[in-house]
Amino acid sequence: MSGTWESTFGDVRPPDGAEVIDVPTASRSYQVLCGRGLIDRVGPLARPFLPGEKVLIVSDANVWNLYGDRVADSLRSTGLEICIFVFPAGEAQKNLRTFGTCLEVMADAGLTRDDGVVALGGGVTGDLGAFAAATYMRGTRVIQVPTSLLAMVDSSVGGKTAVDLAGGKNLAGAFFQPSLVVVDVDVLASLTPSLLIDSFGEVIKHGVLSGPDLFYAIANDPVTASLGPDGCEGLDFDRMVSLVAANIRVKRDVVVADERESGLRQTLNLGHTIGHAIEAASGYGFGHGSCVAAGLAILCRGATALGLTPAPVTRAIQTCIVDYGLPTATDVPVEAILERARSDKKRHGDTVNAVIVRYLGSVDVVPMPFGEFSELVRLGMAL
Ligand code: GLY
Repeated sequence: MSGTWESTFGDVRPPDGAEVIDVPTASRSYQVLCGRGLIDRVGPLARPFLPGEKVLIVSDANVWNLYGDRVADSLRSTGLEICIFVFPAGEAQKNLRTFGTCLEVMADAGLTRDDGVVALGGGVTGDLGAFAAATYMRGTRVIQVPTSLLAMVDSSVGGKTAVDLAGGKNLAGAFFQPSLVVVDVDVLASLTPSLLIDSFGEVIKHGVLSGPDLFYAIANDPVTASLGPDGCEGLDFDRMVSLVAANIRVKRDVVVADERESGLRQTLNLGHTIGHAIEAASGYGFGHGSCVAAGLAILCRGATALGLTPAPVTRAIQTCIVDYGLPTATDVPVEAILERARSDKKRHGDTVNAVIVRYLGSVDVVPMPFGEFSELVRLGMAL
C-alpha cells in the first residue's frame, strides 16, 4: 500500500499531534508515524498492512516485559491471532541461531505470506525481525515499532535488515523496506539517561548532514540537559516528536534517493568507519552512538589538518558533541583502529570511502587510498 495518509488509512485519522512522514522508495512506499501515545494504537494502525489472520511479535525480553502485553492487546483487538518470539536482549543475540529459531517459530505457527511480523524493540530486534520477514516464504511484511532512540532515528527506517556472523557485524542481510513504522516517543521514558544520550551520536550526525537549521536546533539547546541521573521521564516529549521526525526526514531523503547504497546513502556512514573500528577494537565496550560521535570528531579534526574540512565547522561539531556529554576522543590505540578500519567491509580494494564534511549540510564521499586515510586518522587522534 502506498500514497498519502488519507489514501492509505481512509477514515482512520492520524493520531493527534503525530507527524506523518512519507517514504517513497523504489521497492516500496510507506509511512512513518511519529508521535505520542501510539504504542497502544499499533493494532489499528498496522491492520491495513496485515491482510492475513496472524502476526508474529518479535521482541527481546526487556522490551517485551515493558510493552509486549500492550502491543499484543492492541493487535488482538483488530481480530489478529498473536504469535510471539521473545529472545534474550543484547547484540550477541543478533546471530544466525536466533534468526533460525525465529523462522522456525513462524513456520510452527503456520504463518502465511499474507501474515507478517511486528518488530517491537531496538536495533537488534528491528534488524533481526525484519530479516526474518524478508526471508520467510521469500518475503512477508514487517511493521517496525522502534523503542530506542537509535532505532527511531536510524535503523527502523530505510530497509536495512541483517544478523551478525562470526566474521563481522551485519554480514548476512537484505534490503527489505517495512510496510509501516510506528514511532512512539513516550517509550523513551523507560530508557536510562546514558542510553538515550548515547543515541545523540547519530542525531548529531543527522544534523551535520542536514545543515545549519537542524544542526543548531540540536546544538543550541541540548534536549538531554533536563535529564536527572535516574530516568528519562523529564524529557520534553513534544520537542522529541519534532526532533525525531526531523531526523527521520533526513534519513528518508537519503534512502529515497539511493535505497541500495550505491552512492548518496554512503553519506549516512559519516563517522562510522572510525566509529565502528572503535566499537569493535574496544570489544563493544562503548555504545554505538558514542563511538560514532568520537569517530566523527576524530574524522573532522584529521580532515581539518589535511585542509578538507574548515576549522570552524570542526569546532562547531566538537562543541555540540561535548555539550551532549559524548566523547570526542578514544583510548583505543590508533593501530587497533586502523587494523579494524582496514578490514571494514565498506573498504573497496585499497581505498576507503571517507565521508568528508565540507560545511554543515554538505558532505562528500571521497575514495581515499588507505595510506591517506591512515594519516587522517593519526592526525585526528593526535590533536
Ligand atoms: N544506518 C545507515 C543506513 O541505514 O544506511
